[in-house]
Amino acid sequence: MDKSVKQVFDAPGFAAAYENKTEKANWLGPDVMFGMSYRYVHAGEKILDMGIGTGLCSELFHRAGLLVYGMDISAEMLKVAENKGFTEELREHNLAETPYPYADNSMDHAVCGGVMHIFADPSPIIREAARIIRIGGVFAFCCLDGGDGENIKTRHCDHEIHGHTQDFIGQRLSACQLKLCRTLSFIVDMPDCKQNFRAYVVKKVER
Ligand SMILES: C[S@@+](CC[C@H](N)C(=O)[O-])C[C@H]1O[C@@H](n2cnc3c(N)ncnc32)[C@H](O)[C@@H]1O
Repeated sequence: MDKSVKQVFDAPGFAAAYENKTEKANWLGPDVMFGMSYRYVHAGEKILDMGIGTGLCSELFHRAGLLVYGMDISAEMLKVAENKGFTEELREHNLAETPYPYADNSMDHAVCGGVMHIFADPSPIIREAARIIRIGGVFAFCCLDGGDGENIKTRHCDHEIHGHTQDFIGQRLSACQLKLCRTLSFIVDMPDCKQNFRAYVVKKVER
């Protein structure tokens, strides 16, 4: 039987080894999402990192002068992020449980990297990002790219992972005031295979 996601990320040594593994896997999700978002963000604005892990995505936004808030299910991953000392606040929270502990329109922007493929249906993450960011703010995220047909289900390191099609994501975005600004496909060298990921930057618009 699969271990729970929390068990995997909280396992002894996992969080400490995480960034070495991502380096080997050419995990460029943080760089891609940051680069695609840069024109929309400004120093002093607040960004919420959903599934912050060790902070790989949001530390780039911190370097650009943004204030970083983070949430994650794994206490061990959060400890590594906290020890880096760049976050304003970190909360242990399961992204499957809504509402998230942030008020409507309380953040300028949000980012979610390397998380959505863990969810068969990432709709709660998209809906909550749309609720929490202000109008005009951006949400940067990436998915395992499901291609053109149906969403895909596959296995990675003995775990089920999910690929989402652009159509599937597009329908969820338009249901919650999020308009596509930019999208780009990129490759990640997972230990057992190469996988296509797709980064999105979307903007919250008036209804
Ligand atoms: C592959 S790591 C990505 C971390 C970081 N965002 C990055 O780009 O390197 C996935 C992260 O999502 C977190 N995560 C997975 N499922 C979650 C859930 N249901 N609620 C909150 N965090 C979750 C894990 O604990 C882990 O820190």
